[in-house]
Amino acid sequence: MNIAILGTGNIGSTLGKKWAKAGHTVYFGVRNPQKPEVQELINTLGANAHAVSLEQAIKAGEVVLFAIPGNAMDETITANASALSGKIIIDAANKISSPVIDSFATFTAQVPTAKLYRAFNNYGWENFETPLPGSDLFYCGTDGESRKAVETLIADIGLNPVYLGGTDQVGLVDSILKLWFALSSGQKMGRHLAFKVLT
Ligand SMILES: NC(=O)c1ccc[n+]([C@@H]2O[C@H](COP(=O)([O-])OP(=O)(O)OC[C@H]3O[C@@H](n4cnc5c(N)ncnc54)[C@H](OP(=O)(O)O)[C@@H]3O)[C@@H](O)[C@H]2O)c1
Repeated sequence: MNIAILGTGNIGSTLGKKWAKAGHTVYFGVRNPQKPEVQELINTLGANAHAVSLEQAIKAGEVVLFAIPGNAMDETITANASALSGKIIIDAANKISSPVIDSFATFTAQVPTAKLYRAFNNYGWENFETPLPGSDLFYCGTDGESRKAVETLIADIGLNPVYLGGTDQVGLVDSILKLWFALSSGQKMGRHLAFKVLT
């Protein structure tokens, strides 16, 4: 798959490294593609990784992962709304200090044709770098063919995808982050903490 990853911080670089190594082509969308840390990142990944502007990455990606600060989301979505049209979008960003931490309202208003998913927002990045064997990842979003792509990308990180339903379940996916924080930080169980559904 061609994947646009907006942001090369903890989340963008961790997921991007794994997807490039799994054989996907990753276009990191960054404000300054020449930044030494960004160049170092793509050099370690070889031909499967590119550093380009946010606009160029969105154009190149069939899937677009948002891994930028929550407070940059609304402006970035609005500025790139027409290029995002029809794409598979994964919102991994958290508006930590806001009552609603996802950006689904903005995506729905600005990019109504997108296939919209909420994933990779409710664990710390350590669980993407080295997942504990058998860990589940709860996600939600548009039902249909595009779900297969999202599930493939979750599996390529080493996690088991657990679908919680359509875009109306975004609040439930976000509430898992609260549970994760309550245990990892509140109960001092550590950031390398993940969940597993038993049936
Ligand atoms: N850290 C975690 O464990 C974790 C887990 C789940 C979800 N998240 C969420 O994922 C997102 C990224 O977190 P992170 O820890 O990876 O952050 P980070 O390490 O601080 O990286 C942020 C990235 O976003 C870029 N960026 C900053 N402001 C931007 C803007 N206005 N427009 C475009 N790009 C911008 C930065 O690039 P520059 O070099 O240009 O500044 C950097 O590449 C956040 O929304 C966070 O809440 C984080």
